[in-house]
Amino acid sequence: MNDILPSDIGRWRWLEGTFRTAFERAGFHEVRTPIVEPTNLFVRAVGETTDVVEKEMYAFERHDEGLTIRPEGTAGAARAYIEHSIYAKEPISRWYYIGPMFRGERPAKGRYRQFYQAGAEIFGDHGPGCDAELIDLLHGVLTALGLVNVDVIINSLGGAETRARFKEELVKYLEPHRERLSTDSQRRLASNPLRILDSKAPQDREISAGAPTLHEFLTAEDQAHFNELRQMLDRLGTPYRVDPHLVRGLDYYTRTLFEVKAAADKLGAGDTVLGGGRYDGLVEDLGGPKTPAIGFAAGLERLLIATESNQASDPLDVYIAALGNAAQREGLVLARDLRAAGFSCEVDTRGTSIKSQLRRSEGLAARAAIILGDAELAEKVYAVKNLAAHTQSKVAAVDVVAHLSQTLRAAT
Ligand code: HAM
Repeated sequence: MNDILPSDIGRWRWLEGTFRTAFERAGFHEVRTPIVEPTNLFVRAVGETTDVVEKEMYAFERHDEGLTIRPEGTAGAARAYIEHSIYAKEPISRWYYIGPMFRGERPAKGRYRQFYQAGAEIFGDHGPGCDAELIDLLHGVLTALGLVNVDVIINSLGGAETRARFKEELVKYLEPHRERLSTDSQRRLASNPLRILDSKAPQDREISAGAPTLHEFLTAEDQAHFNELRQMLDRLGTPYRVDPHLVRGLDYYTRTLFEVKAAADKLGAGDTVLGGGRYDGLVEDLGGPKTPAIGFAAGLERLLIATESNQASDPLDVYIAALGNAAQREGLVLARDLRAAGFSCEVDTRGTSIKSQLRRSEGLAARAAIILGDAELAEKVYAVKNLAAHTQSKVAAVDVVAHLSQTLRAAT
């Protein structure tokens, strides 16, 4: 788990702001659900035999209730969607969230135990149009972040019926190789064979390479959905490639599945910056009405590593250097007036030398500094330094706010 210090905040705000703007322009509304949910919600939604539920959740008991610090955002969003009967209020809901998630994974570059996701969920639209729109939207966000050569990978898992038929055939194929599979995969052969296709163990990978693919089992409807999605992405000019072996580690997915990889040179093995897909059965499985849905989530730490952006924190507008108690009193009043006029402003109340106060204004990269000493107070004329332009002027105390409104606003 990482501290995000004020010196890093500029980059975080830039990244979050880019997502917010893109989401809101596309008609998504922010949702904020609790960080803690009943453990059972994740077991049912994410799947009992997934790595997330089996190994990674921060789960605990309190007041006889099993609770878990959320490992992801989709389950909570679906729960809220059902709990507040949103389906009865509007035919389509487009939600987004930005917030921390928690998984007790082995930490590595780009893999943390507390990490932030920006994600979106669309409830109530079954068509491939919103799949294409979502994939294009996030490709646009990654481009706006300055990422080039992003690898958009898509696949279709088909619906429940397809999955069941495929599972049978997969087990038939894997069974003769049982002895050579990793211990984890041997166990999964009975519980969750699809996850074997996602295993990182070399012997599992070798065996899965020859396995049948889901594509061979897609129904005509699944095929039509996937083909239409591809045609739409082609029309949008969104780059993508189809990987029939793509599976993801969460059990709720149906039909469209996607992942984006970027900046492998900086991220190494953890280069999946976002992932998502359809989950047309989840709302119903959790007790709501049959509701198609699709969503994705991006890992913000990974995107920060990938973009290596160097966004500085917002600079301070005005620094007030005050010499003596009387000057500090006037400084506090002036600071309040400047803030009310929309400027960021800090007043030095340490009572140190003018030199050290001006050094602090430089350290903060303030755009302007105002010097208040006995002489300035007596004359009611303040010295205003424009630190960017390296100029200094004498300004009547009553005109300072107006003067800065002209000079600083003009400069931005
Ligand atoms: P996920 O693939 O588990 O999907 O996570 C999405 C993204 O979160 C990953 O691609 C990665 O960038 C980031 N991430 C995951 N685990 C970590 C970690 N330990 N440290 C840093 N970053 C991490 C989901 O969570 C789904 N809820 C996405 C979704 C929404 N599907 C449908 N709707």
